[in-house]
Amino acid sequence: MNGFDSIAEMRQALAGQRYLADEGLATVAFLALRLRRPLLVEGEPGVGKTELAKALAAATGAPLIRLQCYEGIDVHQALYDWDYPRQLLQLRAGGSAPLYSEEFMLRRPLLEALASDPARPAVLLIDELDRADDEFEAFLLEFLSDFQVTIPELGVIKAAAPPTVIITSNRTRDLHEALKRRCLYHWIDHPDLAREVAIARARLPHISERLTTQVCSFVHELRFLDLYRSPGVGETLDWAEAFHVLGRQQMDASTADRTLGTLLKERDDIERIRGKPVEALIDRANGVPKDGASGDH
Ligand SMILES: Nc1ncnc2c1ncn2[C@@H]1O[C@H](COP(=O)(O)OP(=O)(O)OP(=O)(O)O)[C@@H](O)[C@H]1O
Ligand SMILES: [Mg+2]
Repeated sequence: MNGFDSIAEMRQALAGQRYLADEGLATVAFLALRLRRPLLVEGEPGVGKTELAKALAAATGAPLIRLQCYEGIDVHQALYDWDYPRQLLQLRAGGSAPLYSEEFMLRRPLLEALASDPARPAVLLIDELDRADDEFEAFLLEFLSDFQVTIPELGVIKAAAPPTVIITSNRTRDLHEALKRRCLYHWIDHPDLAREVAIARARLPHISERLTTQVCSFVHELRFLDLYRSPGVGETLDWAEAFHVLGRQQMDASTADRTLGTLLKERDDIERIRGKPVEALIDRANGVPKDGASGDH
């Protein structure tokens, strides 16, 4: 159900969702589906980690179940909780249904993923796992190796069909070896220029090719500078959209200067490139030969 016959077919299905995966990412994602193993993707902000799970779900027609991790997240937010108000009502009403049964259980994302329709197993996105604590990561081990969980009051609950699991991390800390061993791994880099132009063309078909190519070339050059935080693909797209909304058919230094906050989110980075560097980068961007824009997809 969740499978593709070939890597090429998978790339095409993702492209149909306007997600352009390079050969390396498409290969590892294909294998994750085939081998039924979770896929751990790491990379700089905005390189398409979260979007991969969304595109994969849309491409396979599977429901997307998302678990956003944060410091302090625990079993009751991730797996299940008891519906205390309903339990209380039942107690007051003198009902006979057992209080700690599925009837009074609230399913959180992990349990929902295990309970999904076997004919259409869900895509489970465990987003930004590096934000969660060690204990939570340890708790995930059983889930990731056997697609099952143990609930003290109910016993072991196992998925009828394993969900497709995508785990993302921004590497604010190292994840544990034990967790990594259970996953396939891929590091997503910033796309090269041709791919970023192809992504921008796919995502922003209403914007002229000249403008998207200029913006992508500018950002490409910018990433060679040692900025505090390099812009991701999402910010490239936002910036191109900003020029478009302001009625520009191509980049000019004055508009670029005024809209830098769409692209860069650190004051020092903005101060550093405002003015002369922006002009130089636009010149460089305009020097890119036209065939640099042809997507390699
Ligand atoms: N390969 C790609 N194909 C198409 N669009 C992409 C691709 N990579 C990134 N994008 C675009 O960039 C945006 C940002 O991507 P996404 O939110 O997945 O980044 P992320 O890696 O999860 O970042 P963060 O670490 O900040 O959460 C997406 O909404 C999408 O529009
Ligand atoms: Mg993300």
